Amino acid sequence: MKAPARLESLIEEGLIDSVVRQLMSGKEAQVYVVRCGEDTRCAKIYKEATQRSFRQAVDYTENRKVKNTRQARAMAKGTRFGRQAQEAAWQNAEVDALYRLAAAGVRVPKPYNFHDGVLLMELVTDDSGDAAPRLNDVQFTPEQARLHHAALLQEVVRMLCAGVVHGDLSEFNILLGSDGPVIIDLPQAVDAAGNNHASRMLLRDVANLRGFFGQFAPELLKTEFGAEIWDLYQRGLLQNDQLLTGRFESKKGAVDLGGVLREIDDTRAEEAARRQRMQLV
Ligand SMILES: Nc1ncnc2c1ncn2[C@@H]1O[C@H](COP(=O)(O)OP(=O)(O)O)[C@@H](O)[C@H]1O
Ligand SMILES: [Mg+2]
Repeated sequence: MKAPARLESLIEEGLIDSVVRQLMSGKEAQVYVVRCGEDTRCAKIYKEATQRSFRQAVDYTENRKVKNTRQARAMAKGTRFGRQAQEAAWQNAEVDALYRLAAAGVRVPKPYNFHDGVLLMELVTDDSGDAAPRLNDVQFTPEQARLHHAALLQEVVRMLCAGVVHGDLSEFNILLGSDGPVIIDLPQAVDAAGNNHASRMLLRDVANLRGFFGQFAPELLKTEFGAEIWDLYQRGLLQNDQLLTGRFESKKGAVDLGGVLREIDDTRAEEAARRQRMQLV
């Protein structure tokens, strides 16, 4: 097919050879299948900010790093430069998250390049080599539903161990590739430690998985994996290969006295160290 205008510069740069077909025009992006030498890849073209929907809300962008204060001021004021900066931050967030998560062993499309507002990445394919379907378009047996649910919880744990909460995880943003589910669509991903809404988003992501797979395996609907995962994370105990139970007792009112005393000791030690440093300078 004729290349859309937004892909022309990538062809000129030699990053892609030809455009095979349009895959999707999603909420916030247009996605094309492209050829790069021997490979078939996927090109995601971000729509302009004005055509986008909810996810650039304050909740998601809270605590996102910007390059400098001029940029931050412009973004706050909403000037043209500010909007461009915000646009770039949004697109880069997806690229950053893909690199970070791929490195952490999370099953996401392998990123290849980011050029002129276009992300080039691995095309996730099914057994016959065609673009993989979204979970939403697939039916599962109860057994398959339980297996995929468990596998995706492990991916969520891996992401969290890498400091990332997806923030829009659902059956619409997970593809069923030939070797299992692959998580996509990450421009709204948030920093688990630095964003005050991270816990709410993590709980919602995990509840979406429960709701979807619970249609096929109703016993999943009674599980509390989200609360269990966040509790372990918060206490610094979460590990990549974490064994989970799906049960969670909220311990309202119970006080971890040992923990409080350790905090006090740590704070004292830090303060003593700080005073010592002050004396040295
Ligand atoms: N790497 C990929 N491999 C195969 N299909 C993809 C890939 N990335 C996106 N898609 C397809 O394009 C659609 C839209 O992409 P997505 O990243 O979810 O953007 P949007 O923000 O528009 O939802 C997805 O639902 C999926 O069908
Ligand atoms: Mg999507």
